[in-house]
Amino acid sequence: MSIPLDRRTLLRATGVAVGAAGLTALPATATSGEVFQHGLASGDPLPTTVLLWTRVTPTPASLPGSGVGPSVDVQWQVAADRAFTRVVAGGTVATGPDRDHTVKVDATGLSPATTYYFRFRLNEAVSDVGTTKTAPAAEANVQHLRFGVVSCANWQAGHFAAYRHLAERGDLDLVVHLGDYLYEYGPGEFPVGYAVRPHVPPREALTLSDYRQRHAQYKTDPNLRALHAAAPWTITWDDHESANDAWSGGAGNHDPATEGDWASRRAAARRAYFEWMPVRNTGDRLYRKLRFGKLAELSMLDLRSHRSKQVKILSGEADDPNRSIAGAEQLSWLIDGLVSSTARWKLVGTR
Ligand SMILES: [Fe+2]
Repeated sequence: MSIPLDRRTLLRATGVAVGAAGLTALPATATSGEVFQHGLASGDPLPTTVLLWTRVTPTPASLPGSGVGPSVDVQWQVAADRAFTRVVAGGTVATGPDRDHTVKVDATGLSPATTYYFRFRLNEAVSDVGTTKTAPAAEANVQHLRFGVVSCANWQAGHFAAYRHLAERGDLDLVVHLGDYLYEYGPGEFPVGYAVRPHVPPREALTLSDYRQRHAQYKTDPNLRALHAAAPWTITWDDHESANDAWSGGAGNHDPATEGDWASRRAAARRAYFEWMPVRNTGDRLYRKLRFGKLAELSMLDLRSHRSKQVKILSGEADDPNRSIAGAEQLSWLIDGLVSSTARWKLVGTR
């Protein structure tokens, strides 16, 4: 579906000048489906701000992980109605091969607890329309919230029907994804011996290009795309976004002798993650809090980046008081938050 944007409306809404060059950077032949192959998403809703995400494929060669393709200006719009007759925010954001042509922008100046519609445009190509919702104001007397909670979606093991069911509900304030959004394995490695559909690239993900391609593959799943388009998400990672049984200094499924040093692999996995996921970049820190009026506060944890190496449960090592899963800094942040929060429900996002 192609919905023409009114350029004057866009400029009026943004106050940002869009130069003619930005509108002609693409071959006119690129269709919306070709340009917006990976859907769109929103995330980390605040009372007046929500993060918007997409990825553009401006030329056929600009494939995920390729490092190839032009830098382009992508336009975005937020409206109060699905037909975009009441545009409330918009602008232009640059992207290019340095960030794998992913686009992230915070839409600000919105109203709390409000449903909005958003879309992107690159020249003549217009994305589908996504639905998102801001969080209630911090002191609002919220009576009711409904979250969808998901984790552990292995492309090779199934077709993500749970995402489809959640996308069809239409009544979610938020989707909370608790990690293992993707798996690093090569075809046939997990589940062992069979795969309902094989991973791309057809090998265990190790490099930045590998992780970018794997993220891109997951975002071609129609059910995953539908759920991203239906509601804002807040997401944390578990181990498989880098490698199985990841800890601060390595991973069970990482062999430095044959796969290089862990720090480089983890940096590649994290970079691809922050490019491809609708999470707000707060340095390299993934743990964060979201508040939903007086009713709930959600602390999303990162239990992989700072944790000790796994040991056998019944070994004496497990009792070492110096061992940690959260790391000292995150643990005090969590405890301080739980103690001081005035929210009725103090939710912790982990698994
Ligand atoms: Fe998992």
